[in-house]
Amino acid sequence: MKLTYTTEGNRICLSNGTKEKHLEWIHAGLLRVYENKNSEELVHLYYRNEAVESKIVTEGDNLIIQAENYEIRVDEELTLHITRNGQPYFEEYAGEDAKIYEEDKDWDLAKLEGHKEEASLADFKAQMTFRLFDDEDKIYGLGDKAAHLNRRDYEYISWNTDDPSQHNESYKSLYKSITYLLVNHHKTSYYGVFYPSSYKCSINLGKYNKKFMYIGTQKGEYDYFLLLGDNPAEITKNYTELVGRTLFTPMKFLGYHASRWSYSQEEMKAIREFHNKAQMPIDYIHMDINYMDHYKVYTVAENYFDDLKKFSAELKEDGIGLIPIIDPGVKVEQGYELYDHLTANHGFASRNGEDYVNAVWPGDSKYPNYFDEKTSDYLTEVTDRFLEEYDLAGIWCDMNEPASFNGPLPDDVEFPVNDKMYYHDEVHNLYGEYMTRCIAKAFTKNNLRPSVITRAAFATSSPYTTSWNGDNQSLWDHLRTSLPQVMTMNMSGFVVNGVDIGGFGNDSNKELLIRWVEANMFNPFLRNHSALNTRYQEPQAFDEETVEIYKKFIDLRYQFLPYLYDLLHKAHVTGEPVYRPLFYDFPTDENTKEINDQVMIGGSVMLAPILNQGQKSRVVYLPEGKWVNYFTNEVMEGGKEYIVPMKLNETGLFIKAGAMIPMFEGLRHIDKSKINTLCLYLAPGSEKSEYAHYEDDGETLDYQKGVFNEYHFVRKGNVLTMKMKHDGYSSDYHMLKVFFGGTVKSIELTKELEIIL
Ligand code: GLC
Repeated sequence: MKLTYTTEGNRICLSNGTKEKHLEWIHAGLLRVYENKNSEELVHLYYRNEAVESKIVTEGDNLIIQAENYEIRVDEELTLHITRNGQPYFEEYAGEDAKIYEEDKDWDLAKLEGHKEEASLADFKAQMTFRLFDDEDKIYGLGDKAAHLNRRDYEYISWNTDDPSQHNESYKSLYKSITYLLVNHHKTSYYGVFYPSSYKCSINLGKYNKKFMYIGTQKGEYDYFLLLGDNPAEITKNYTELVGRTLFTPMKFLGYHASRWSYSQEEMKAIREFHNKAQMPIDYIHMDINYMDHYKVYTVAENYFDDLKKFSAELKEDGIGLIPIIDPGVKVEQGYELYDHLTANHGFASRNGEDYVNAVWPGDSKYPNYFDEKTSDYLTEVTDRFLEEYDLAGIWCDMNEPASFNGPLPDDVEFPVNDKMYYHDEVHNLYGEYMTRCIAKAFTKNNLRPSVITRAAFATSSPYTTSWNGDNQSLWDHLRTSLPQVMTMNMSGFVVNGVDIGGFGNDSNKELLIRWVEANMFNPFLRNHSALNTRYQEPQAFDEETVEIYKKFIDLRYQFLPYLYDLLHKAHVTGEPVYRPLFYDFPTDENTKEINDQVMIGGSVMLAPILNQGQKSRVVYLPEGKWVNYFTNEVMEGGKEYIVPMKLNETGLFIKAGAMIPMFEGLRHIDKSKINTLCLYLAPGSEKSEYAHYEDDGETLDYQKGVFNEYHFVRKGNVLTMKMKHDGYSSDYHMLKVFFGGTVKSIELTKELEIIL
């Protein structure tokens, strides 16, 4: 068989006489490989097309394509073998053993003892198979899975699933489907793969056969994006550019959220009073499902609040916003306005032409067809009115996998859009995203940045919403998992993400809660939330000591707020994650590859908390360079491990020597217009450093029109200078306060300045 090819712009069409394969360069860091493209009618991707020069030559039975520093060898089976600067980089795998057979398992017997039947997929319409070079290959990615960073040897099924039992590393599906893998091999080589189909697929990372990993789909197409680059940073940026960059939330959203299923009005008042008395920062209280009238979405139960609007206003005076939960399921009840309207206007999913009914909290419920613009616009209006009517601060979207208490939605549930019919098997993984798109519009139409949280999501959802990782439990194991989970979500483009602090299910306890807040204080989304019938787990539910320690770390979080906000803005613009594994910043350091219990927050701050019951010291790995222990000011040499003592009220916080960190002082709530002093902490241990600080109004979309400031700080020895690189916002700052080597200097913040430290 002879290989032939044709080219058209950036596309090369290869044929071996029996089949065809297409290679399409989107730009030098992104190659699409496909036989047939997956539909992009509902999956929104962002393309930056740039010409890539390719040279194609025939070599024996193979074709060789040279482009940039890559050489792609295509063999007679149309299998790709890519080298980069002459080194093995990426290979498809086409061995005889790559055909997947599903084993026959005796589930009937196992089920007798209560074992749960596990899903498995085979008989693929399309299977993309990639070679694993050796046992040392690491495979990261896939968003929220409850596992360590390296997912090698596991199998996942991309299918958004609501399952509140104890999540662990053997869970194949959780709430989100983020079909993105980041692979490291030969120590320093990295590439990424993104599978852009919303249909269910199996992602097997060397479990079936250690020589390869595969993505297999029964309904999607052979079509994947290969993300190329020098290191995780480049690959992540290329990936997030394709799927859409993270939502830039209001600054306030980075504050502390207090929640429980389900606080009464009295309990919410008590939270406010407690935070006032303890002077502990807080920005939001969440309203879980009990506030609704019989779980009817967009209603408020009579007598749940004396007067919700008045109560909201009172909380607002104290700087606290109320965030209600909204689920998609609409109670079947004639006379309920929302139900009647959507029924009359064909706004619900259907089956065989009749509205489809399943059950969620309200009992029998129907699912709005968020894919249909008319329905979605209507629900945006309903959301906007609801926010306005009760002066609410955000929306928490839950149960949007979508959850269903009467068995799964059948594949053929219908979601009509204009004259086209989409079915549940295609839209399932996108349902959560389309709900958040609809809700986010209720903010953007008013020139506000969305304050939206979701449980379910697809790879492309992060431009519309923040997220949390669902129903974890008050277990030490789930505390440990929270770090790789939030790091991987960040690496998968979902920056404002967090887990329920203290654990949602089961009973928390003093030590666990304290270690949890110490470990999660820099989670971009920071919320303490617990389930119905569990022990109360607010710090005040324990004792004075818990309150004192909890406050210490919430105060610290608020102190680092401008740093987090700068990082979030950067993530929104460049795709650089905020909360990331050490290998992101130190990609050639082998020691960093499997560190699950330390986190980089931006490039300058590293957290190394205690994650085990009873433990009072831990090993901390400091990568190359110098580091400063934030609490002791000790300058420490990197490239080695230390044993660091950490009493119950201590955690590990290390700053890169010389780093500049913008900080705020004494905040209790975040109201950007009232923050008049910018602090700058200068870590010791280096002669030179620089930092760019971003400022805007913290809440509107005006920044998109240039209404922001950028301050460029440079320190050389004991001279600190600042110049404004962008001057578009009438600043709220009056003073700059610099902390350096035990001294503090305050100076009026003008557009250009020089300070001798
Ligand atoms: C789901 C959510 C949880 C919420 C509960 C009641 O379990 O994951 O956060 O509290 O529903 O609404």
